Amino acid sequence: MKYRELVSFDPVREIMVLTAADDRDQAREDVRTYVISDRMAERFRELIIPKLRFDLPGSKNCMFVVATYGTGKTHLMSVISAVAEHADLAAEMTNVDVAADAAVIAGRYKVIRSEIGSTRMSLREIICHDLEAGLAKLGVEFDFPDAATVTNTKDSLVSMMEAFDARYPGKGLLYVLDELLDYLAKRRDLELREDLAILREIGEVSGRTRLRFVAGVQEAIYDNPRFRHARRTSRHPSRMRTRSRSGRRRWGRVGQGRGTGQGSGSEPTRAPRS
Ligand SMILES: Nc1ncnc2c1ncn2[C@@H]1O[C@H](COP(=O)(O)OP(=O)(O)OP(=O)(O)O)[C@@H](O)[C@H]1O
Ligand SMILES: [Mg+2]
Repeated sequence: MKYRELVSFDPVREIMVLTAADDRDQAREDVRTYVISDRMAERFRELIIPKLRFDLPGSKNCMFVVATYGTGKTHLMSVISAVAEHADLAAEMTNVDVAADAAVIAGRYKVIRSEIGSTRMSLREIICHDLEAGLAKLGVEFDFPDAATVTNTKDSLVSMMEAFDARYPGKGLLYVLDELLDYLAKRRDLELREDLAILREIGEVSGRTRLRFVAGVQEAIYDNPRFRHARRTSRHPSRMRTRSRSGRRRWGRVGQGRGTGQGSGSEPTRAPRS
């Protein structure tokens, strides 16, 4: 017998890129390799899945995935968006109870994934651009009006969802945006206030339509003194952490362990592969 027959090695992708999950095979791989701790299972069942359901009332159906660098934010968002987009991928989740619960939201969405890089655009411009481009790929023509000609963006978001609904009746639109805090941290205070206003508007529209929004941020943006205006002007969306309270980088046990005695080891774990 040869060593390679005894050891099965799958290379780890150190840096996850959210848009890679636009490819169905990659999305499936992300779902199959995502280790769901007990604590994350609770998060899925009590927060993530209910926020993505259409039949449960919710004033705001947006989520921030909040954690420090390299702790699994992108991987988690990839899993959420993959299951929301592809009905059959719920069954591939690594926790059977979560997989069963996720069946109610699986395949109910068209998904637009994006990440913010180096840019001088405002957050409104970025979001409108992402949505226009994503919808165009989905065969929906929609143009947002110039910000200088409207008193808010909420009405435009509602109109956008009407156009989406005409093409995909009964479906939801999930917009997933990564690297939000890196972008916001570079913004000046006045720009930041405008940026946070569009987040509040998306939050409000998500409570009235089938638009859902998930963003990855590298720390709790509303806990940062620079983002105090957001606390005043908006009630923040649901937040979830993907890391332990100790803040140590421990992927594989992310977000678990509080009061359970789990998640205290030092070896990272990977999902079993079949
Ligand atoms: N629950 C998990 N199960 C399996 N692998 C995980 C899990 N959480 C994180 N990882 C792995 O850890 C690595 C880092 O994850 P990821 O890129 O999603 O972190 P991140 O928080 O988005 O990092 P960054 O802040 O740099 O964007 C990846 O290889 C990812 O597959
Ligand atoms: Mg990431």
